[in-house]
Amino acid sequence: MPLSGSAPLTVTIQFNLNSLISFKEVDETVSIIGVMTLNWIDPALTWNPLSYNNVSKIIIDPFDLWLPPIFLMNGVEKMESIGSDTLIYTTVILNGQVYYSPGAVLQGKCPASIARFPFDTKECTFSFLPWGITNDSLELSSLYEHARLDWYTPNSDWILQEYSTNVGHKTVDSYSYDMFYLKITVKRQSLYYAVMIILPTFVFALLNPLVFILPVESGERISLAVTMLLSYTIFLTIVSESIPVSSNPMCGLLIVMITIIVVSCLIVSCVIIGSRYANMDNFGEVSTIVKRLTKWFIQKRNNAISKKIMPLPEVNGKSYTSDINVTGKDVAASLDIIFLSIFYMTICICFFTYFLYVVI
Ligand SMILES: *[C@@H]1O[C@H](CO)[C@@H](O)[C@H](O)[C@H]1NC(C)=O
Repeated sequence: MPLSGSAPLTVTIQFNLNSLISFKEVDETVSIIGVMTLNWIDPALTWNPLSYNNVSKIIIDPFDLWLPPIFLMNGVEKMESIGSDTLIYTTVILNGQVYYSPGAVLQGKCPASIARFPFDTKECTFSFLPWGITNDSLELSSLYEHARLDWYTPNSDWILQEYSTNVGHKTVDSYSYDMFYLKITVKRQSLYYAVMIILPTFVFALLNPLVFILPVESGERISLAVTMLLSYTIFLTIVSESIPVSSNPMCGLLIVMITIIVVSCLIVSCVIIGSRYANMDNFGEVSTIVKRLTKWFIQKRNNAISKKIMPLPEVNGKSYTSDINVTGKDVAASLDIIFLSIFYMTICICFFTYFLYVVI
């Protein structure tokens, strides 16, 4: 390699980001196409233009030159210096300046959390290193603080938010290397997922507790509850393909969906319990808590009605309760109200927690 005296050779890097190919959450890899323009001075490559017909620059096959070996250290493909498998011509200027622009599909490892899917932002760093040459022989410097986007093609799934470049050092066992870092931040376009997954989940969750409003006499309650559970399970099977799977941490949306399924199962059980009370004749079997609750409900309803029509005279404060006759239908009706409010509350808390989690 071209060295003059004891000073290290300085290679200036300018990074061009051409496109963001894909982001694979499961493999935790990101693929980009990038081109690096490397520039350095090779003292052996100077000439006097007067002796060569005023030629001030030449474009040559890099096979004949020394080239800095730049490796992607967090790559997931084979380990080779960037551009080594493609013929990319170099330009040499009469004062020994060499310009070389190797480009490649770069696949880097990028551990990223999908907890906030589909409202997530990913941050990935590509680390480049002149492998095998320590920083007392070769120094890197970054021409700009950002990657250039002159050839950039936007990705419709991801919006590029940040694309900074900088150089740093890394010391391993007293060997120091200069590193070149490219940091990109991308934000997912979430409209598709909001419309295709979150909205149906939300509508389904709001629809499900309505089975408690359906009259028991229709005899359709249990079949409706089971049909809803089934249809949501099918929906989950279809959309689960587009939800990234990872356990650490788990996707928040998936937790919401599982919660909805559990709520739906509980609704089926509560419908069964409610219909059992509705058809009960023998009243000794009804537990006292349920009975008392029902009495309280009936009393409240009666109070509300009587206040509207005409105020009832109070009989010794509240002894009015004891002479209410509670039937199985009354118990079932009050249970319906209780279940309806409990399930709506659970669903609201679940969605509220999710949105809070996603926003913050
Ligand atoms: C090489 O890196 C080390 C560690 O960061 C630094 O102390 C040293 O000055 C660098 N050497 C040169 C020649 O830049």
